Amino acid sequence: MGIQIKSRQNEEHYLDISDTDYKKRVARNFGKAARTYDSAARLQKRVAARARMLLPAGIMPDYVLDLGCGTGYETAFLNARYPDASIIGLDLSMGMIDFANSCHSQGHQWCAGDMENLPFASDSFDLIYSSLAIQWCDSERVFDEIHRVLKPGGSFVFSSLGAGTMEELHSAWQQVDRGEHTNRFSSYSEQKRVVEQSALQVNSFCRQAETLHYPSLKTLFRELKALGVNTVNSASKGLMTPGKLKTLETAYEHFRETLGLPLTYQVIYGQMQK
Ligand SMILES: C[S@@+](CC[C@H](N)C(=O)[O-])C[C@H]1O[C@@H](n2cnc3c(N)ncnc32)[C@H](O)[C@@H]1O
Repeated sequence: MGIQIKSRQNEEHYLDISDTDYKKRVARNFGKAARTYDSAARLQKRVAARARMLLPAGIMPDYVLDLGCGTGYETAFLNARYPDASIIGLDLSMGMIDFANSCHSQGHQWCAGDMENLPFASDSFDLIYSSLAIQWCDSERVFDEIHRVLKPGGSFVFSSLGAGTMEELHSAWQQVDRGEHTNRFSSYSEQKRVVEQSALQVNSFCRQAETLHYPSLKTLFRELKALGVNTVNSASKGLMTPGKLKTLETAYEHFRETLGLPLTYQVIYGQMQK
């Protein structure tokens, strides 16, 4: 018997009215970047390679879910790793789901949906995986939903981002104005508290910083845009004037290292079990 998925036509169908502009912005930003995402996703691929190491050894899952699957390259990896399993990739962004479906039509099912309100029956999955997606969500709601749809004994493996991510960019912007120009994520200790208070058993929870380098601010912004990681915390970003750009560049230059302008991500990894 397969997994039953409620069908979705567009984001309006699975986002509550209360869910807001925030989720619509997340879905829209990532959807717009679907075609450019994979070629810019060097940090995301590095993180996913580490998250894969947390997959429990020796399991033979029947049903696997990739939460916040984006363009689907990790869903395709899960399909290759567990060839006998039914694999579902779920994402909030219809643009991402359409793109994933066009790239990887064989062997997966794709589902547009919200991981805070999963369209699956309880006790459905043996394994749930999520790389760099739950940081966009209310993690308490996500852990409740994961606990509900995992089978007893099933595992959840994830990577996420914590406070301090893109600190260099945030701090350079502070020299320009007081606007919200970078996405802010909750702290490692707050995320630890949430996982420990969830109904899931925590087998592993750790963090590791990753730094990328860029020759210039222009190349850094180009990559963030290609990834769809535009600011979603606030709707009003304000116009970038030549004067603001100059101040920002000067402020960022203070961080320059031998390899270039650094951009640091505080990555959190976990493995949990029902
Ligand atoms: C940085 S991308 C990561 C994609 C992929 N997992 C990877 O490793 O490259 C984050 C993805 O999470 C999705 N996302 C954000 N909030 C979500 C939610 N509430 N439910 C489902 N997907 C969500 C976004 O649409 C986006 O495709």
